[in-house]
Amino acid sequence: MEHKQLKNFPKGFFWGGSTSAYQVEGAWNEDGKGPSVIDMREKYPEGTTDYKVASDHYHRYQEDVSLMAEMGFKAYRFSIAWTRIIPAGTGEVNPKGIEFYNHLINELIKYDIEPIVTMYHFDLPYALQVRGGWSNRETIGAFVEYSKVLFENYGDRVKYWLTINEQNMMIMHGKALGTLDLNLKDPDRELYQQNHHMLVAQAKVMDICHQLLPQSLIGPAPNISYIYPASSKPEDVLAAQNYNSIRNWLYLDAAVYGRYNKTAWSFLEEKGYIPLVEEGDMEILQNAKPDFIAFNYYTSKTVEASTGEGADKNSTGDQEIVIGETGVYKGHSNPNLPKNEFGWEIDPIGFRTTLREVYDRYQLPIIITENGLGAYDKVNDDGSVDDPYRIAYYQKHIEQMQLAITDGVEVFGYCPWSAIDLISTHQGAKKRYGFIYIDREEFDLKELRRIPKQSFYWYKDMIRTNGEKL
Ligand code: BG6
Repeated sequence: MEHKQLKNFPKGFFWGGSTSAYQVEGAWNEDGKGPSVIDMREKYPEGTTDYKVASDHYHRYQEDVSLMAEMGFKAYRFSIAWTRIIPAGTGEVNPKGIEFYNHLINELIKYDIEPIVTMYHFDLPYALQVRGGWSNRETIGAFVEYSKVLFENYGDRVKYWLTINEQNMMIMHGKALGTLDLNLKDPDRELYQQNHHMLVAQAKVMDICHQLLPQSLIGPAPNISYIYPASSKPEDVLAAQNYNSIRNWLYLDAAVYGRYNKTAWSFLEEKGYIPLVEEGDMEILQNAKPDFIAFNYYTSKTVEASTGEGADKNSTGDQEIVIGETGVYKGHSNPNLPKNEFGWEIDPIGFRTTLREVYDRYQLPIIITENGLGAYDKVNDDGSVDDPYRIAYYQKHIEQMQLAITDGVEVFGYCPWSAIDLISTHQGAKKRYGFIYIDREEFDLKELRRIPKQSFYWYKDMIRTNGEKL
């Protein structure tokens, strides 16, 4: 639909940026922090660093926040490391961990930057993992206990809470993300049991948040991308419906309506992945209501009908690359879209489509908690960093977001990935996303100097004009 006049971005729109604890903080074993599944990962993809130092945000958060303030950030979406707060996953609380996030939150508030907190971003405490992780129903209780500590300590200053980052990607692409427990005997079936436990944990935590902090708002944060059929062939359209349900709606229907999506459930039945649902679980899901939906969007996906050869369970692709599932759908490279240097398609219009679809289905306000372009940025001889390709990516996506707002979608914030350079989930330090360059190499930490990129100055101007100057 074309519009004669575009609507402005709402006043007070949360322009900002995102990070996650393990990808940015470093200080992996300092001040009482316990190990997470990420810290205990046995192997990293060849040629990529670990997360021990990352961007050293733990020690340099003041400098980082002041740069965010210089850009004009209205919000900063970051995650809290569960293992800093409760090092063993349950039990003793670590005062130094509490203190770090107190300082970070206070620093943000000093500059009028709204803290938007993800409670759990891939880094499950290792102590829980050895007891079965999310396969063990007790992890639900551990997450509830942890959430209460967060609400009690930060609820006076944090209004916006996100429960679990990309639960759907942990279930579908855990191997690439490094969250998959490699010891699982029957991973496919087991993962949907884990998924069920996470859904119950999320519902309980949303409910507790409403009880303890009536002024606060809480929502899920999955990775959502609209799925296109490869052609108008009815078989391809059905395959796209299948994948939309399995990848997207399964998670949002459960979070918002407290029910399992029917197509996704029939997929679970067909594959023998039905989770054990205990008495009372569905009531817990139904009683909890999110206040908004946060989602991460990088690109649309395209699928065709399965030919019976699409699935390779040992190689499920990564978060943005679809392989397939025999008898259900098969990944298809969309010939209409360019790809980035890491093979991810780029689809700004798909962003508008996804926003419209999510809003039509759930009628809840939306905040974008990730969107961005990974690239091999380089420092020029004069010390500057030019990233016109990233600016172009953002321009096109923000333009489509404004069109979606004009279409009637209620969007209240945009926190792209990432505020500053950090370590990719599986492609190391060289895959950069930030507005701020962190001067380190894959294995040479150098001085970890902060260098604002060209996109930093562009974003600053864009925020200053509340999106008018794209
Ligand atoms: C999302 C994650 O899947 O994508 C982030 O929430 C991640 O943690 C981001 O970093 C980009 O992916 P990658 O693999 O390039 O780091």
